[in-house]
Amino acid sequence: MMIDRGARPKGVFRRFCWDWTSIHDWLWRRDCGWHSKVWDRIWICYATPSTRSTTLRRRKIVTWRPSRLLGQIKWIMRIRLSRSSVGDEEKAALARVIDRGYLGMGPEVEAFEQELRSYIGFDREVVCVNTGTAALHLALQCLDIGPGDEVLVPSITYVASFQAVTATGARPVACDVTEDKVFLDLKDAEQRVTERTRAVMPVHYASDGSGIPEVYRFAARHRLRVIEDAAHAFGCRRDGQRIGADGDVVCFSFDGIKNITSGEGGAVVTGDKKLAERIRDARLLGVVKDTQKRYQSQRSWQFNVLHPGYRYHMSDLMAAVGRTQLRKIDRFGESRQRIGKGYRSALGTFPAIRLLNLEEGNIIPHIFVIRVLGGRRDKLCAHLSGAGIESGVHYRPNHQLDLFKADYRLPRADKLGDELLSLPVHVELTEREQQRVIDTVRAFEVSWFNEKRKNGPFKKPERY
Ligand SMILES: Cc1ncc(COP(=O)(O)O)c(C=O)c1O
Repeated sequence: MMIDRGARPKGVFRRFCWDWTSIHDWLWRRDCGWHSKVWDRIWICYATPSTRSTTLRRRKIVTWRPSRLLGQIKWIMRIRLSRSSVGDEEKAALARVIDRGYLGMGPEVEAFEQELRSYIGFDREVVCVNTGTAALHLALQCLDIGPGDEVLVPSITYVASFQAVTATGARPVACDVTEDKVFLDLKDAEQRVTERTRAVMPVHYASDGSGIPEVYRFAARHRLRVIEDAAHAFGCRRDGQRIGADGDVVCFSFDGIKNITSGEGGAVVTGDKKLAERIRDARLLGVVKDTQKRYQSQRSWQFNVLHPGYRYHMSDLMAAVGRTQLRKIDRFGESRQRIGKGYRSALGTFPAIRLLNLEEGNIIPHIFVIRVLGGRRDKLCAHLSGAGIESGVHYRPNHQLDLFKADYRLPRADKLGDELLSLPVHVELTEREQQRVIDTVRAFEVSWFNEKRKNGPFKKPERY
């Protein structure tokens, strides 16, 4: 955006923004991308004739007190943990659907499902729904999992995995996770199998599904169905194949911050045609074979219902955004991988930080998770927040939540629950911003290290 750097607020207004040029120059030099926004706001506040009424002037003067101004700048310059990467193409896709005058489930959803099939594998069935949680719920329910049944789930996952099981009436059984990948620990899962266990739900935590083949061997031994929660793993690979190209039932999420988004959204991918047909009906309130009519922007009037169903279908608005995002997946993937690589090479040597042992080459990182040793995770989180950097905790162990409280211990999940911290990853994150995150983590580590040294000889934290 062109900025008129010569323009200056005049007269009395100048007094209240004495520092405005230096702030503007500073922002300009740092090229933070937000300088124009700050400039515009200062300009609108002080220099446009419409703001010259006494009340407005007083309000603006208070609003832009220097301390507040700095607070605002910090807010504007904050680094977000995650965000959608959407722009003109998505706007055009939405306009196309709006112009057509039919926003519900129709030809866009059909086209999105076809495009997902050609991306993942033509021999696979793809059913789009309105969230990843709905995908998991329908997959479980259409496998006739319900009251009295149990499903094995790793304790460290989004609560959606647990709630999807609960929604069927079945009981999610929390299992421990491995320390290096935060993946379902099969040794622990083995102990949790009972005659009521019907399925296992491994989670591609932080996009890594390298442990999945082991899960299938485990499931075959115990005659369980496998529902892969691949919410983090769209676009990732395993053994040269895209996630979803094989496996029993694989569920994706397309919520706003996933590897691709359709606003909200999700998909069930399976090779089981009968199961896919049942899921298609169940997403439309159980109305039998309504899907074909909907693809033509129509609906069945004389219909039958055989099984329970929900209003879980995807809309054309969502599918139009999803189709546009699917075309960008390679670029998104490169950008997320570059960020992951940057963090790994910068943070890998910090003595009190551990990185997860993920299959770098195969994954598109949806989140970048580190382990902060020594009980300092929350301090680092506060330190980052003070520097205007968002971080996250993926996730609080589910067996610690009241609804899913377990009467047994899951020692690794408990420990990781206090250590895991996610750093910002999204397609819009610039190298400069990432460097700021790394420098802030480094400053925290150095001050901790110096403090330790002052209090006696430095001991490396125990390696787990
Ligand atoms: C591991 C996991 N499973 C399931 C879900 C649910 O997906 P959605 O938010 O699309 O319902 C999420 C979403 O963040 C997730 O991270």
